[in-house]
Amino acid sequence: MSKEIVVLASGNGSNFQSLINHIEAGHIEANIRCLIADRPCPATKRAKQHGISYYELPRHNDRMLNLHVLAMLCHNIDLIVCAGYLTILDSHFINLFPNKIINIHPSLLPKYGGKGMYGLNVHQAVLDASETESGCTVHVVDSGIDTGRILAQETVTISPLDDARSLQTKVQEKELRLLPQVVKALLGSRVNA
Ligand code: GRF
Repeated sequence: MSKEIVVLASGNGSNFQSLINHIEAGHIEANIRCLIADRPCPATKRAKQHGISYYELPRHNDRMLNLHVLAMLCHNIDLIVCAGYLTILDSHFINLFPNKIINIHPSLLPKYGGKGMYGLNVHQAVLDASETESGCTVHVVDSGIDTGRILAQETVTISPLDDARSLQTKVQEKELRLLPQVVKALLGSRVNA
């Protein structure tokens, strides 16, 4: 029986799209049960275009209501993929799905993770620290912010000409390949993340 994934996103959804492409091309044997977004965002348009159910769960909804809806939508799921989801997940939700929630982050964790480290902020912080390389990380979600066990990383070299935007583009190119690889590996194995 095909494995089931739920994807959580808040933004453009290019990582979500990459998963869709890999599944549609038959590289990953899985079904995306639904997309959950915490705001109106381009990711929901992608879901619509590909006939994938999607739900908007505004982050300022009642906390318990969101928790129950999320838990219901993820019932019996094989893997939950946070692909640019900006709401911090409730620890009760995380505890319901131990080792089944993964996240992609645009830095080489444990560096440049935590509160406020999202979008261009991450890349600007990397440049401000005069790093010579950066990259992306797929990790298990635990109750901290970007602190869960690291599953895989990809690096990029920073050139002196890079600004936050060009670095973001470089890192994203790697993300779009790394996330499907990890999802495929996790779904193909019998063990949890
Ligand atoms: C990615 O950079 C990811 O690492 C981070 O949020 C961004 C989402 O981009 N968590 P997109 O919505 O997939 O284009």
